[in-house]
Amino acid sequence: MNVQHHKLLRCGVLCVWIALCGLAVPADSFAGVHAPLDAAGLVRAQETDARLTHGPVIGGVTSQGAVIFVRTDSPATVAIRYATSPDMTGAQTSETRATAEDADMTALVPLNGLAAGTEYFIDALVNDVVAADSAARFKTFPTEDSQAALQFAITTDFGAYGEGDQPPLDTPTNTFRQIDAANPDFVFIGGDFDHRNPHTLDEKRQMFKDLYSPDNPRAPMPEFVPLILRRYPVAHQWDDHDFYDNDADRTAPGRSFAAQAFREFFPTYPLPNNGALYQSFRYGQNDFFILDNRYFRDPNHETPSRSKSMLDGEDLKKAGQLAWLKRRLKQSNARWKIIFSSSVFNLSTRKSDSWVPFPREHDAIVNFVRTNNIKNVIVISGDIHAGALDNGTNAGLPNVVAPGPNLKYCFTVPQDWPGTWSNGIYGSSKNVDNAIPCNGFGLVKLTERAAKIRILDTEGKTKLKMNIKWQP
Ligand SMILES: [Fe+2]
Repeated sequence: MNVQHHKLLRCGVLCVWIALCGLAVPADSFAGVHAPLDAAGLVRAQETDARLTHGPVIGGVTSQGAVIFVRTDSPATVAIRYATSPDMTGAQTSETRATAEDADMTALVPLNGLAAGTEYFIDALVNDVVAADSAARFKTFPTEDSQAALQFAITTDFGAYGEGDQPPLDTPTNTFRQIDAANPDFVFIGGDFDHRNPHTLDEKRQMFKDLYSPDNPRAPMPEFVPLILRRYPVAHQWDDHDFYDNDADRTAPGRSFAAQAFREFFPTYPLPNNGALYQSFRYGQNDFFILDNRYFRDPNHETPSRSKSMLDGEDLKKAGQLAWLKRRLKQSNARWKIIFSSSVFNLSTRKSDSWVPFPREHDAIVNFVRTNNIKNVIVISGDIHAGALDNGTNAGLPNVVAPGPNLKYCFTVPQDWPGTWSNGIYGSSKNVDNAIPCNGFGLVKLTERAAKIRILDTEGKTKLKMNIKWQP
């Protein structure tokens, strides 16, 4: 029996039963929705057969709006209710979106006209009925001239049970509890959201579904959904293992599938129209640039040449990512300019899948920043499954590397390759395969005078520290 026939039969039986009995069906009769039904609710009964399966996930947050991801198990109309009090007094309802098979029942619902620096409480409506367990909250960003200090958390390189290159996990993590305890203004989710190496559209979609499920047996981190996704604005970039394969680049056969699933499942800031996923956003007086280090990346092993590029391997020039980054950096009047580059920027790591195979482009970016007198730039990375901090002495620009939240092993580079870092390394690369874990997260506080950066372990203990003074 196919699904449609099954649903029709189920509804038919239900409708006849209600009509014959003339009884109100208890709200909880329908898993996932509170659906008060009465004689006039026959149509409602059919409509509310759809159930919320994933979300809300809150992204694309600005001083005035947000984008909310939700997914249902069958075609439905969805909307978001939002209010400034937790009891939803005076709640408003967003415009509606339809979920459908062709986007795997996902929807990205925009919220517009929000007040700056304000906490909002939301839940999801599926066919006009509030979905169970859909309550979430977040705070909008302050106005763009606000001098308010901010703190954001960095989590990257998630372990998932026995997937791809990631060995099985056997212990849960406290990382997300510690991030929540720090109460950041937003959470940046770096690349390798997990390490399953998705090759098909279905595999990539399944990755998000697993990560958005609080009871996911493939990634024992039940706090991630309730303590992070339901409480904080998130932004995200991918890296090789959630894009396609280890060290993947623009030649990856699954490139378009991966981008499609990302666009379906993650609420982003506006994306370019060239297929890649680089984005920017502003928080108060600070600009954030999220690079896509994979979509246009030339193969690492390609012979070095003038045109070899991580950001613009297809030579789009003015319409490409490298030109976008330079243009935006030069135009920026921000106090701090934060660049998220999943690939480690510090060339002394000597890792083959980093900026090391792209020294010309790395140096061109550093020189562009210097010659244009662009100050207060910090590059934030992941990928090496360890923590590391450099004030720019070795990396050209200050480079922050956050560790994974729940990986079994430490470091993805051999023993003699961690590189030179002015403010240290958290983790040991000795005997990589058997090294003890070095899990944790990053916390960055930006004030008018300084960037205060810490790498913490899973119990919230500070492992590395770096303060960078703001340059006038
Ligand atoms: Fe990774």
